[in-house]
Amino acid sequence: MISIDEVEPPDPGSVSQGWSERGEVLISVAATSMNPTETALRSGLWPTIALPLTLGWDVAGTVDGVPMIGMLDSGAAAEYAVAPAGRLVPAPVSVPLVDAAALPLAGMTAWQAVREHARVEPGERVLINGGGGGIGGFAVQLAKAAGAYVVATASSRSAAQVKELGADEVIDYLAGPLSVAEPVDAVVNCAAIGDRAAGALPGLVRDGGRVVTVATPVPATDTVRAWHVVVRNDPADLAALTRMVDDGRVRIDISGRRTLADLPELHRLAEAGGLRGKVVITPS
Ligand SMILES: NC(=O)c1ccc[n+]([C@@H]2O[C@H](COP(=O)([O-])OP(=O)(O)OC[C@H]3O[C@@H](n4cnc5c(N)ncnc54)[C@H](OP(=O)(O)O)[C@@H]3O)[C@@H](O)[C@H]2O)c1
Repeated sequence: MISIDEVEPPDPGSVSQGWSERGEVLISVAATSMNPTETALRSGLWPTIALPLTLGWDVAGTVDGVPMIGMLDSGAAAEYAVAPAGRLVPAPVSVPLVDAAALPLAGMTAWQAVREHARVEPGERVLINGGGGGIGGFAVQLAKAAGAYVVATASSRSAAQVKELGADEVIDYLAGPLSVAEPVDAVVNCAAIGDRAAGALPGLVRDGGRVVTVATPVPATDTVRAWHVVVRNDPADLAALTRMVDDGRVRIDISGRRTLADLPELHRLAEAGGLRGKVVITPS
């Protein structure tokens, strides 16, 4: 259950929400963003996290008037949040601060999957499975920026957007078992899919190719390597992403704008698969 409560602003420097680091700063929150994975956090499926807690991993806001963004352990779905200063980076200057809240978690997950793990090279053919999602949209752009030929999957509600983000081909994953015209060098899986669909992904990859998944685990085969990766909160990666936003190489594509009062509805929508892309959430 989600409730909206009036509470005192958090106290920087206190050990709050599990942080033990020093040097915390108070953030006046401009926005957080909806990460559908937070529905698992809210419903108590995260074994190590005690409830109740304040939701919100992504934050965009001001610290002493300076626009900053970052990924928090939680707590950004509020008017004020605290974070160790070292976890925040200057916000991109070319987009509204509220929109920048869509970047940290989804952007860093895509960044690390595409660049650090899949190590996409110019000229490679790369399949982004789940290109219509928050992570997938960044993965499409980052694979394209790395010089790849990008094939992405998306349903009809997201296909046009995924094409606009730079996919060379878009395949409707609802149209039947996934197939590609030519084997790809790498797959980056950004969607929660069934085990059967996950098991079929290496069959789309050339011998010696790779599959990186941030969602459903994908089994390796004799000829295709596969990794499941979890995002690392790395402000250097986030800073590099903000530079790409300001260079115009990565777009922050906002599919909805809501307020904290809408959070219960957003969670219901996410659980029903009714959200697409990145939704930003302002305090009011
Ligand atoms: N490893 C990590 O560190 C990490 C971090 C955050 C999230 N995650 C996980 O990564 C996944 C994506 O997260 P997200 O925030 O991007 O979620 P999201 O915004 O809800 O995106 C998921 C997208 O997957 C697409 N999709 C659904 N079923 C599909 C299928 N069978 N084949 C291909 N695409 C399908 C849908 O796109 P359409 O609009 O085209 O239908 C949907 O928009 C989730 O499973 C999440 O739990 C992992």
